[in-house]
Amino acid sequence: MWDPETYQRYGDERSRPFFDLTARITAATPRRVVDLGCGPGDLTTTLASRWPDARVEGLDSSPEMIAKAGAGGPVTFAVGDVRTWEPAPDTDVLVSNAVLQWVPGHEELLPAWVRGAAPGATIAIQVPGNFDAPSHRALHALASEPRWRDALGGVGLIRRVPDFEAYARIFTGAGCTVDAWATTYLHPLPAHGAEHPVLRWMDGTALRPVKAALPAADWPVFRTSLGERLAEAYPVENGLVLFPFHRNFVVARTPQEDARP
Ligand SMILES: C[S@@+](CC[C@H](N)C(=O)[O-])C[C@H]1O[C@@H](n2cnc3c(N)ncnc32)[C@H](O)[C@@H]1O
Repeated sequence: MWDPETYQRYGDERSRPFFDLTARITAATPRRVVDLGCGPGDLTTTLASRWPDARVEGLDSSPEMIAKAGAGGPVTFAVGDVRTWEPAPDTDVLVSNAVLQWVPGHEELLPAWVRGAAPGATIAIQVPGNFDAPSHRALHALASEPRWRDALGGVGLIRRVPDFEAYARIFTGAGCTVDAWATTYLHPLPAHGAEHPVLRWMDGTALRPVKAALPAADWPVFRTSLGERLAEAYPVENGLVLFPFHRNFVVARTPQEDARP
């Protein structure tokens, strides 16, 4: 279960890659714009402001996120799964920001999206590539300890994703032109209060399945232990924790009708 409030705790840092991604989309008058894994919908709404004449849709598998996104605005939000979603033929822009790392096997979906979207459509994805970061290594090491491994063994904490180059190859293999890059953001997170800010960041994403898998009484114990490890991995300096976060970006243009492979 996703908790929109916890996810939006670091909203500024989390939204920046979305704007860096969508800034590279050049479509002027798209007919249909889809945000796959739209989360709480605030970023999707910016797409409707950018293209007021487009039909803008947000899809997310979390009913909590879609409830937060609300109804009645310029975007049509719906609960749905990207694994079974298919583009309508007039889909000119497809955005998916910080979603595909949650979808095992998503590499196989991408060529189908290329085939299904309109000729000359833009598919823009951003996928975090931080699974070797100290935060995830600490999480994995703790979850592998005897006390936790039975409950957490099946949670799939390390989700390997392709890097930007491998994503680019998937799209060029499907006949697209691509603009691909990777960025490591350095987020200076204020360290006020007793809790480590990287722990608070992880509450909104990586720790969500851990909390769901543990008995209620064990969750605070696990979380406190992880916080201690994160404090060692990311020391507080001058009231801040400098938190690096690596992300992969691809903006692909689907082939024109006569150039489809
Ligand atoms: C990290 S949030 C990103 C939300 C939004 N795109 C943003 O940039 O703020 C990941 C979102 O992906 C959604 N998600 C994960 N797996 C999904 C799936 N198979 N189908 C649709 N949405 C999915 C989650 O429900 C969650 O809202």
